[in-house]
Amino acid sequence: MNFDYTEEHLNVQQAARDFAQTELLPGVIERDNNQEFPYEQIKKLGELGFLGMMVDPKYGGSGMDTISYVLAMEELSKVDASASVVVSVNNSLVCWGLEAYGSEEQKQKYLVPLASGKVHGAFLLSEPEAGSDATSQRTTAIDKGDHYLMNGTKNWITNGNSGTYYLVIAQTDIEKGHKGINAFIVEKNWPGVVVGKKEDKMGIRGSDTHSIMFQDVIVPKENRIGEDGFGFKFAMKVLAGGRIGIAAQALGIASGAYELALKYSKERKAFGKEIMHHQAIQFKLADMATQIEAARLMVIKAAALKDAGQDYGLMSSMAKVFASETAMWVTTEAVQVHGGYGYVKEYHVERLMRDAKITQIYEGTSEVNRIVISRELLR
Ligand code: CAA
Repeated sequence: MNFDYTEEHLNVQQAARDFAQTELLPGVIERDNNQEFPYEQIKKLGELGFLGMMVDPKYGGSGMDTISYVLAMEELSKVDASASVVVSVNNSLVCWGLEAYGSEEQKQKYLVPLASGKVHGAFLLSEPEAGSDATSQRTTAIDKGDHYLMNGTKNWITNGNSGTYYLVIAQTDIEKGHKGINAFIVEKNWPGVVVGKKEDKMGIRGSDTHSIMFQDVIVPKENRIGEDGFGFKFAMKVLAGGRIGIAAQALGIASGAYELALKYSKERKAFGKEIMHHQAIQFKLADMATQIEAARLMVIKAAALKDAGQDYGLMSSMAKVFASETAMWVTTEAVQVHGGYGYVKEYHVERLMRDAKITQIYEGTSEVNRIVISRELLR
């Protein structure tokens, strides 16, 4: 067993680390305060190839493996989870879904601009009454012969306003349950697509989360992804990969908070010495580093299984549950190490603790992912 990264992995990791320090760190607190989307930074990430990392270069991507992707996600998320969620959604949900299951025409028309970073996309599954219970879709797309007519509302959509292309999951035949669900490519500027209110969130406040309404939207037949009725399986397959990205994001939030706590413990003095000399702090740092390393091994294993073409659904859910719970716990401890300073906005750990919470909620709550894990174990 080899735990060494290749030179290419190390180069990607370094490039992402440099980008995070030079481009994301300045202004990250202001963007969080003002709920400001990092347009300029996402444009540059696109130009550097971070928005289509795993896509074949013939479709405008960077042709890298999943290990490279999670290493980049960790580094970006150490500093700015609002930017890294754009990278995650575009890479693992939108681009991967289109590359794996889209037609050649769909790839040329939509994947090429998405993977080359000219635009980015969004994944529209969640609804006011169908968050975890994804089969209960209320958005309908009725077959009208040469097109579908789409109506309904999607909620909590990451990249809802900034995204140009949407992958929308909708019910085409209510009688058939999950077999009557399809996935469609919808363009944001089509008539009848309405971007609703922006959510005022606890964390990842720089990312734009919106509700999206469809009012008699005409969706061409050729924009359906895959065979009729494939939409629910499409969503599940896409999310299995997406959870690796979110696990890497959680890992990055945790390791970012840990690095800040370690640095602070060497600077801050209390009771006549730097606080790193107090065993109470040393044990916290030891526990944080141990949890992070365990999470990293799980994230890398899920990525390696995907790269090897093996089943990764179980491992991606396990990695997501463990890494997101690690992120919540480690960031809370990092705030504790900082004491009063950790509770104010000018110290980054306060934001990281708020950002950590979403990793336990999106792309399947911890509870949903436990359902996925236990079903696999009991199968
Ligand atoms: N691959 C292929 N097929 C799959 C699958 C997978 N990973 N998982 C399930 N399926 C299939 C099942 O085999 C079954 O098919 P058959 O009937 O032909 O056997 C079908 O799909 C239905 O599966 P279930 O009976 O297991 O469905 P369920 O209703 O019990 O729910 C669930 C399963 C796991 C709870 C699912 O609803 C789920 O994952 N929910 C969470 C949704 C989610 O993650 N939402 C996140 C929104 S996107 C987001 O957050 C993006 C963002 O903004 C960052």
